[in-house]
Amino acid sequence: MTTRPAVVLTPCPDGPILVRGDVEIRDAAGRAVPRRRATVALCRCGASGIKPFCDGSHKAIGFRTDDEVPRPPEPVPGGDPR
Ligand code: FES
Repeated sequence: MTTRPAVVLTPCPDGPILVRGDVEIRDAAGRAVPRRRATVALCRCGASGIKPFCDGSHKAIGFRTDDEVPRPPEPVPGGDPR
């Protein structure tokens, strides 16, 4: 049986980060930002008019991401056994 994590963050290619789960979002001053949905999209392009949430402006500005997750290097045969 697998358990589901309490919070899941999913970066959308060329778009926001989806936040699913019970998490409190705060502004830069530490004030709680009300959320009305269980899943919200946080802006990561900087162009949203409703920060911290995404309003779709990333499309208009042509925001692009590089969502490749770096992988650890492959072990070298005969290399350091640490
Ligand atoms: S990521 Fe959508 S408006 Fe910034």
